[in-house]
Amino acid sequence: MHVLSWFLRINSLFSAVLAQAPPQPENINITGTNFLDHDSPISNFWGQTFLKNNIPYIDIPNSNIQDVYYYRWSSIQRHHRYTIAGTGYILTEFVQPVGYAQALNTIDAAAGHQIDEARWLRSKIYDDDYVLAYLRGPGNTTQYTHWILDAIFRRSQVTGDSQYTTEQLADMVRLFGYWDFVFDSDVGLYYFTPNFDAQEYSLPGYIVAPDGGQLQLDGPNTYRPNVNAYMIANTRAIVQVAMQAGDNDTAATFTEKAEKLEQSLYDHLWDPSQNFFVDVIMPNNPNLSRVMGREEVGIFPYRFGIGLTPEYANVSIQELFDPDGFLTTYGPTTLEVRNQYYTATKPSDYCCFWQGQSWPFSTAHTLKSLAAIYRSGNTSITAHQYVQYLDMYATTQHKNGTPYVAESHYPSMDAWSADSTNHSEHYDHSTNNDDVITGLLGIIPRSDDIFEIDPIIPQNWTYFALENLAYHGHLITCIYDQDGTRYNNGTGLSVFLDGFKVYNGNGTKAQVTLPTASTVALPVTVNIAGNPNGLGSYPQAIATYTYSADNPYKAIDGYLFYDSIPDNRWTNYQSPSPNDTLQIIFARPRNISSVTLALYSDLARGGAVDVPATIEIYGSDGLLANINTSSSFLTNDRNTFSFAQTETLFVSVNMFNKPGVYVGLCELEVWTQPQTAGPYYAVDALLTGPSVSTDNKANATANGAVVSGLTDEAVVAFSGIQSPGGSATLLLTYANEGDAAVRVGVTVNQVSQGQLSLSGTSGDFGSAAMDVTLGAGKNFISLIGGTSDVKAGVAASKFIGKAPHVIAERPFVFGETVNQWGNSGIKDASRTTPRRHLFLKMIFMLKE
Ligand SMILES: *[C@@H]1O[C@H](CO)[C@@H](O)[C@H](O)[C@H]1NC(C)=O
Ligand SMILES: *[C@@H]1O[C@H](CO)[C@@H](O)[C@H](O)[C@H]1NC(C)=O
Ligand SMILES: *[C@@H]1O[C@H](CO)[C@@H](O)[C@H](O)[C@H]1NC(C)=O
Ligand SMILES: *[C@@H]1O[C@H](CO)[C@@H](O)[C@H](O)[C@H]1NC(C)=O
Ligand SMILES: *[C@@H]1O[C@H](CO)[C@@H](O)[C@H](O)[C@H]1NC(C)=O
Ligand SMILES: *[C@@H]1O[C@H](CO)[C@@H](O)[C@H](O)[C@H]1NC(C)=O
Ligand SMILES: *[C@@H]1O[C@H](CO)[C@@H](O)[C@H](O)[C@H]1NC(C)=O
Ligand SMILES: *[C@@H]1O[C@H](CO)[C@@H](O)[C@H](O)[C@H]1NC(C)=O
Ligand SMILES: *[C@@H]1O[C@H](CO)[C@@H](O)[C@H](O)[C@H]1NC(C)=O
Ligand SMILES: *[C@@H]1O[C@H](CO)[C@@H](O)[C@H](O)[C@H]1NC(C)=O
Ligand SMILES: *[C@@H]1O[C@H](CO)[C@@H](O)[C@H](O)[C@H]1NC(C)=O
Ligand SMILES: *[C@@H]1O[C@H](CO)[C@@H](O)[C@H](O)[C@H]1NC(C)=O
Repeated sequence: MHVLSWFLRINSLFSAVLAQAPPQPENINITGTNFLDHDSPISNFWGQTFLKNNIPYIDIPNSNIQDVYYYRWSSIQRHHRYTIAGTGYILTEFVQPVGYAQALNTIDAAAGHQIDEARWLRSKIYDDDYVLAYLRGPGNTTQYTHWILDAIFRRSQVTGDSQYTTEQLADMVRLFGYWDFVFDSDVGLYYFTPNFDAQEYSLPGYIVAPDGGQLQLDGPNTYRPNVNAYMIANTRAIVQVAMQAGDNDTAATFTEKAEKLEQSLYDHLWDPSQNFFVDVIMPNNPNLSRVMGREEVGIFPYRFGIGLTPEYANVSIQELFDPDGFLTTYGPTTLEVRNQYYTATKPSDYCCFWQGQSWPFSTAHTLKSLAAIYRSGNTSITAHQYVQYLDMYATTQHKNGTPYVAESHYPSMDAWSADSTNHSEHYDHSTNNDDVITGLLGIIPRSDDIFEIDPIIPQNWTYFALENLAYHGHLITCIYDQDGTRYNNGTGLSVFLDGFKVYNGNGTKAQVTLPTASTVALPVTVNIAGNPNGLGSYPQAIATYTYSADNPYKAIDGYLFYDSIPDNRWTNYQSPSPNDTLQIIFARPRNISSVTLALYSDLARGGAVDVPATIEIYGSDGLLANINTSSSFLTNDRNTFSFAQTETLFVSVNMFNKPGVYVGLCELEVWTQPQTAGPYYAVDALLTGPSVSTDNKANATANGAVVSGLTDEAVVAFSGIQSPGGSATLLLTYANEGDAAVRVGVTVNQVSQGQLSLSGTSGDFGSAAMDVTLGAGKNFISLIGGTSDVKAGVAASKFIGKAPHVIAERPFVFGETVNQWGNSGIKDASRTTPRRHLFLKMIFMLKE
C-alpha cells in the first residue's frame, strides 16, 4: 500500500513541470504529516501561501520561543528580493535599500546567517540564487568578513545536494583567496578593522582612541578570534567540498592551512589569564600583547568546532552566566559588563555600538557556540542553561508585547536601542530559527544518508514536535511525546519520513538511515518583470493614477512585503476613477501565460485599500483575462492568473475598485520558463550605464530593441547562462557606427577573460568571437566598458562549443533617437483598443 502511493506521488510530480507560477518547493507534492495546526500559527502574518509552502512547523512547551519562531519566518520573507531573471533572489539586510549596500542591495556581513536560516525553507531557490550571487555574480565578498563558504557547505548537508556545491569548488577557492590581502603570514592570522566585521565601536577602538573619533568607530586593524574562526571554517568547508569532488590535492592544501590557522589562534588569541579568546591590536604592538577585556566575539570560535575542550570551553562559558560577564536580562552583552568601556546605553545619533548593546548578529553566533559546547560534553553547561539563552533571545525579540526584531537592543532595558522607522523593521542580520531547529530541537545536518536528531531540551519537557522539515529531498517529522497523550501516536520519540513512521524509541535521540530521495528537478521559473535598476530602465512600470506616497516602480522592484510602513506598493488611493491600470512594458516582446499579483489590502488595519472587484489583463493582442472572482482573491498574498500563451510587449492590469475603497499591488510578477539556451539578449541583461533603444536594422528582437550607450564604465551583465562547464566560444553580435575598433572586457563568473575587439561596421550588424571558460551550472557573463565617442553597440552573444548554444543576435546603436516601437512583430495596438493606444503613446513620451 505504502509503496503504491509513493509511486503515485512521484507521478504527480512529473505532471507539474511546466507551471508558469512563482517557484514552488521541489518537494511540494510530497505528503508529510498533519499533527499540528498549520493555519493558526501563521494567521497573523501576510504572505501565507509562501509560509505554508515553505516552513517547518513546531510545537514546544515554551510559547515565547515558539511565537518568535513563527514571526521570524514572516520576517525572512520580507527580505527575499527578486532581482532579475537569471540572477533571481538575494536576501537583504534591511527592508528598504541602504546606501552602503553593494550590488542589488546585498551586504555580505550576515550572509552566513541568512544562508543558515533560509536553508530550512522547502524551496531551494532562495539559497541557490543567493549563494551564486556571491560566488559568481555581482555580490561583494570583501566588504565585510564572513563565513559564507562554511555556510554553503553546511547548507548542502541540509539539501543533500553535494553536486551544487562541488560545482562551485573553484569559485569557493577563489573567494577564499580574496582575503589574502589581510593575512599576516608572520603571525599566521588574518586581521581587519572591527567595523568591517560588523562590530564598529568595539573595544579595540576605545583602547586606541579613548576620546572618540573615526578611529574609535572603525577600530584599528586587529587580529580577532571571530575573523580567524570564520576563515578556519571557510577553509574546512573547502576541504569538505574538495573531498566530495575527489580533489584530494585541494583538500590536503586546505587541511594544512586550517590546522596552521587554528594553532595560531590558540597561540596568539587565547589569553590564559582571562580564560578567553581575545583581540590582539595590530599597530604598534610588536609583542602581540592581548587586549584586556572580554568581548562576545571571543565566544564565536566554538560554533566552528574550535576550542571545544574543557581547557578552553569550560572556562569561557562561565562568563556567559555571570552578571559581571555577559548575562543581562536582554543580553548577552557584546562586551563584558565589568569592562571600563561597557555602557548599557548608547548615543542616539548612531546605530551601532558593540561595547555593550545586545546584538542579534552576535547572539546568534553565541547560541551556536553554546549548542556546540553543550554537545561536546566537555563542560558543565546544562540543557536548561541553553534554553535560558534561547528564551532570553526570544524575550529580547519583542516590541510592545509582539515578536519583533530590529538592529540592537539595550542589554538591561525593555527597548530596542537601534530601531528607526522605515529602516530597521524586521532586520535580517541574525539567525533564530536555525537555532531552534539545530540547537533546541537537535537536527544535526550531515552529508551522509543518516538523519540525526539530538535535542537540547530540559528534563521537564514532556513533548515537542518538528513537522515537515525538508531534509535531503524528504519531509521529516519528529514528535516526542513522553506519555503519548499530546499527539496520540505512541510514546517516546517517533520519526516520520514522507508521512510514514520509520522510527520509534524511548529517549529523545535517534539516527535514521534515509532512502535516496526521488524529487524531480523542476526547471525553476523566472520572473521577467523584475527590475532592480529603478525607473528609467526596463521593464518599465506606469499607471493611469498613483497615490502621491506610492510608486508604480514599487510593483516591480522585487521587494515583496505587505506592511503599511515600511511601505512597498503601488495604489490608486484617492483616484478619481473607479478603475485604474498598471502597465509593465518589457524591453522586447515576451511569451507569457500568466501574471502574478501580490494584492495589498489594509482594510483590516483601518486603511482604504482592498483587493479589486474585478481585474482585466491586457497584452499586445488585447484582452488576455477578465477575472471577476473577487471573493477568491487572496489578500496580502500572491494570486496567479493564467491565460493562453501570448507574445506581448506589455502587460496592462486594469483593476476596478470595490465600492468606497481603492486597489493596490505590492508586486506584479510574470513568471516564465527560464532560458536554457541562447540567444541571450543584451536587452534582458542587467545594465549599468547603457540603455535600451531600438534600431530598425536590428532583427534579433521582434521590436528591434538593442542596448546602446556603452561608455567606459558600462556593464552589460548576462546571468543564468546554463552550461555543463568547460571552454566555449562567445559570439557577440553588435553594430559599431564608427571606423575604429572598440574594446570591451569580458568577465565570466567574476574572472576577467580578456578583451573582445569590436571592429567598425558602419552601423550594420557584425559579430565578434572569443574563447571563454564557463563553470558548470549557471554562469554570469559581463561585458565591461566600450566607448563614449564611437558609436558601437552590443546586441547579444552566443556560445559555441561545450556551452549552450548561443546568444544574442541583436544589437544596438548608440545615440539613436527612438521614435517608434514595434518595427517588427509588434502589432499596432491603437487599432484594437484605446487602452493600448494610450500606453503606447506614453512610451513615446518616456523615450523623448
Ligand atoms: C503538485 O500536484 C498538483 C496536483 O497534481 C499539481 O497541480 C502541481 O502543479 C504539482 N506541483 C509540483 C511542484 O509538482
Ligand atoms: C567590495 O567592497 C569593498 C569595500 O567597500 C571595496 O573596496 C571593493 O572595491 C568592493 N569590491 C567589489 C568587487 O565591488
Ligand atoms: C582521494 O582520497 C580518497 C580517500 O582518501 C581516496 O579514496 C581516493 O582514491 C583519492 N582520490 C584520488 C584522485 O587520489
Ligand atoms: C616587547 O617585549 C620585550 C621583551 O620582553 C620588551 O623588552 C619590550 O619592551 C616589549 N615591547 C613593547 C612595545 O611592549
Ligand atoms: C572534549 O575534550 C577532549 C579532551 O579533553 C577532546 O579529546 C574532545 O575532542 C573534546 N570534544 C569535542 C567535541 O571537541
Ligand atoms: C567545568 O567547570 C565547572 C566550574 O568550574 C566545574 O565544576 C566542572 O567540573 C567543569 N567540567 C568539566 C567537564 O571540566
Ligand atoms: C520608506 O523608504 C522608502 C525607500 O527609501 C521610500 O521610498 C518611502 O517613501 C519611505 N516611506 C516612508 C513612509 O517614509
Ligand atoms: C521546567 O523547569 C523550569 C525550571 O524550574 C521552569 O522554568 C520551566 O517552566 C519548566 N518547563 C516546563 C515545560 O515545565
Ligand atoms: C500516527 O501518525 C501517522 C502519520 O500521520 C498515521 O499514519 C498513523 O495512523 C498514526 N497512528 C495512530 C495510532 O494514530
Ligand atoms: C520504552 O520504555 C517502556 C517502559 O519503560 C518499555 O515498555 C518499552 O518497551 C520501551 N520501548 C522501546 C522502543 O524501547
Ligand atoms: C477603466 O476600464 C475601462 C473598461 O475596461 C477602460 O476603458 C478604461 O481605460 C479604464 N480606465 C483606466 C483609468 O484604467
Ligand atoms: C537578421 O539580419 C541578418 C543580416 O541582415 C540576416 O542574415 C538574418 O537572417 C536576419 N535574421 C532574421 C531572423 O531575420
